[in-house]
Amino acid sequence: MNAHQNKTMKRMSHSLALIITLAFSAQAWPSTLDRIGEKLAPVKLTTLDGKTVNLLDYHTGKVFVVAYTGVGCPIAGRYAPRLEALMKTYGNDGLQIVGINANPQDTADKVRDDIKELGITFPVLLDHDQELTRQLDAKTTTVVFLVDKAGVIQYRGMIDNQYVLGAVRHKASKNYLEKAIKATLKSKKPEISRTAAPGCTITRIKGESTSEKVTYASHIKRIIQDNCVACHRPKQVGPFSLTSFESVRGWSAMIHSVITDRRMPPWNAASEFDGKFSNQRSLPDKDKQAILSWIANDMPRGDESQDPPDKKFSRLWRIGKPDKVFTVKKGFSVPTEGVVEYQYFSIPTKFKEDKWIQAMEARPGAADVVHHILAFTVDPKGPNRQNSQLGLEDGFLCAAVPGDTPSIFPNGRAKKLPAGHTLVLQVHYTTNGKKRKDKCKLAMVFSDDPVEEEVRTRGIYNLNFKIPPGDPNFEVRSEHTFEEDTNLLSLYPHMHFRGKSWKYVAHYPDGTTKTLLDVPRFDYNWQESYILENPITLPKDTKLECIAIFDNSDKNLVNPDPSIEVTFGEQSWEEMMIGYIDYVSVADGG
Ligand code: HEC
Repeated sequence: MNAHQNKTMKRMSHSLALIITLAFSAQAWPSTLDRIGEKLAPVKLTTLDGKTVNLLDYHTGKVFVVAYTGVGCPIAGRYAPRLEALMKTYGNDGLQIVGINANPQDTADKVRDDIKELGITFPVLLDHDQELTRQLDAKTTTVVFLVDKAGVIQYRGMIDNQYVLGAVRHKASKNYLEKAIKATLKSKKPEISRTAAPGCTITRIKGESTSEKVTYASHIKRIIQDNCVACHRPKQVGPFSLTSFESVRGWSAMIHSVITDRRMPPWNAASEFDGKFSNQRSLPDKDKQAILSWIANDMPRGDESQDPPDKKFSRLWRIGKPDKVFTVKKGFSVPTEGVVEYQYFSIPTKFKEDKWIQAMEARPGAADVVHHILAFTVDPKGPNRQNSQLGLEDGFLCAAVPGDTPSIFPNGRAKKLPAGHTLVLQVHYTTNGKKRKDKCKLAMVFSDDPVEEEVRTRGIYNLNFKIPPGDPNFEVRSEHTFEEDTNLLSLYPHMHFRGKSWKYVAHYPDGTTKTLLDVPRFDYNWQESYILENPITLPKDTKLECIAIFDNSDKNLVNPDPSIEVTFGEQSWEEMMIGYIDYVSVADGG
């Protein structure tokens, strides 16, 4: 292993360790607070109508489950249908579930709206004083406590192992809560009494802080606006809004972990490429420090009158007034949980002449469940192409990731939309516990001026790999040699669930080699086009090589099946290895 690889490996294992610490941070509770075998003590909670009640009054059956939830926690949403299903199965046998919301930012109204959308029928109580939360030492928003008929806590931890933050397994392989319910109904002790529950960390509120150095008004609101609210505002892909003091304070424990770990804002290119891409998302170091010290000081509010004004987001298209908006005809009903296969939608364009696309923007109908949209063109008169063959040689138009800037080419540059072609949209949906119907749109501005440079796209791909079962580190390469001087505009690596890392390496005709993009921690959820701030010139005879690493082991949490050999294909249980590039030929004037 050379020094560079060694460094990369170290960084990868470092970030992996961070992910694991984050996902399992709840495991570290002191054993004295674990409460297994102890009686649930009476505690006062508040109903959504503002009445004070005693939790124990809800325990009148054989098995009582206290289930933490939280508005906007991606995992808590996904587990709501699962808890409902358990009620359906075991309700008649004597199971009762009570939901607990201890998030200071979740008002009764917010909780009421949320449980209605999630279809929750069991009662949800508020623990805003966090008395119960301290008693149980509950740390995350999906932890459950199972209490037997005598009132003794017999199990604490996760519902099952399908979801962790940032990863969705195809199905659960360990149904801890259901097993514990079954055992308790038979008056037996559950085989496993404690697991670490995933979910969002519940912020513990200690009281109003008056420390005035870094306050929400002076620093934090501006930082969150600049770096987070593009996605974290109502009806966008971020699972909760960060648009008020209450919500930012309430989410601060989670914000602390995601910014320390560099999970948010999402951006997976290695840091030595910072500043190279115009669509880079990253939290400047001094802003990160400001947030951390604000949290350490108990999140002081500061003078409200000094708040920077709210950021305005236009509902208009960001590419200007489109010449044409294409809409998917039949909407897609997004299920409430699990993994959804990629969906493909065809839209005929019906243009009699070629068009030149100067700018394009794809938009979801239900933005909170759409993770990416890829747009292609195909010739309906051409050979009958399968979805897996889309955009390999040409025909790739754009990738749209929520919160990202749309594709706008500088004057004189445009992509061709050939006459009579059909658009195909590939859409990746994520589930969030709520029923959604989506219809994506793709808007285009056409160029009136003569086009000086055609922006071309090419996939640099490998169709012939076989990833062995269980292999944690399988390398696949592909390459393309340019036959003329070329200016490279953007790079977009495409893989599925087993994608682990990706590199684009240029081998120049003079014998030198340079890495143009390194994505050490590829995340299937962020199908990202890396747009170069300044185009890179690749002289004729330059070989551009793509190096993909796949993880087909069971250590890869999102791996649908580690026991099979994996080959090229469009479905998520198959893999892709395509390095897309946008480029212009220098001879065209680029
Ligand atoms: C480009 C869109 C985008 C931006 C920008 C963004 N987020 Fe997120 N964020 C998301 C999405 C999507 C999720 C949900 C991930 C999931 O469903 O697993 C998320 C989840 C989270 C979570 C929940 C924990 C988790 O990992 O799922 C926290 C906390 C969070 N974001 C904080 C932030 C903060 C703080 C910022 C700004 C510094 C930020 N985010 C910027 C899209 C974004």
